[in-house]
Amino acid sequence: MEKVAVLGSGEVGTTLANGFLGLGHAVMRGSRDLAKLAEWKAKAGKNASTGTFAEAARWGELVVLSVKGGAAESVIDLCGADALADKTIIDTTNPIAEQPPANGVLAFFTTLDRSLLERLQARAPRAKFVKAFSCVGSNLMVKPKLKGGPPTMFICGNDAGARARVRDVVAEFGWEVEDLGTAEAARAIEPLCILWCIPGFLHDDWSHAFKLLKA
Ligand SMILES: NC(=O)c1ccc[n+]([C@@H]2O[C@H](COP(=O)([O-])OP(=O)(O)OC[C@H]3O[C@@H](n4cnc5c(N)ncnc54)[C@H](OP(=O)(O)O)[C@@H]3O)[C@@H](O)[C@H]2O)c1
Repeated sequence: MEKVAVLGSGEVGTTLANGFLGLGHAVMRGSRDLAKLAEWKAKAGKNASTGTFAEAARWGELVVLSVKGGAAESVIDLCGADALADKTIIDTTNPIAEQPPANGVLAFFTTLDRSLLERLQARAPRAKFVKAFSCVGSNLMVKPKLKGGPPTMFICGNDAGARARVRDVVAEFGWEVEDLGTAEAARAIEPLCILWCIPGFLHDDWSHAFKLLKA
């Protein structure tokens, strides 16, 4: 059993926390407002707990970052870079800007030359950030059932050992995994969120995922 800290009180946090509990791990969810997590905690069983972002970050052996993209750097600050040092951080965040989508196309507050993952890595240099789960809706993150078999999750991050750990997690959650190497690859992975959301905004279709086909 591993101690998994899930930072975030939203739907991604709920989905992945329940996924890790289902695999037999212990989960502490972090939030600024524990009242938001009270109902989840009451139902989630003996291996579930809640705390501040800092408490969860200190407690976790593996950390999931699932907070609003625009708040992600400040959540890292609330955790304290030391609490995250040497830990693998599964970074689900997307740098979605505040303005509404234009004809279904989300705006980002980052550029194609510097991803949110790279900004987070710079904020906590000794943490081992790995992008994962960012290019699919929370409804399909755990054991997705889709025509055409398991979809592909794209991951990246600077630490090869952390990427290998996250590859195992993502595979246990029912995905094929495409490891795209170091942090710069997040410049390509994060915008897949924009593409994934377009059918949702245009046609209310949120039931799809990407698959990499190979010869
Ligand atoms: N929803 C999806 O299907 C989906 C899919 C793929 C990736 N993602 C990405 O995953 C992340 C989580 O998404 P979500 O939909 O679960 O939740 P969300 O609504 O994007 O984020 C909720 C979390 O962000 C924190 N937060 C918001 N503003 C904050 C601030 N000013 N300071 C500190 N913390 C703040 C909240 O903290 P408190 O708990 O303290 O309120 C809460 O834990 C996002 O980056 C999103 O883009 C989402």
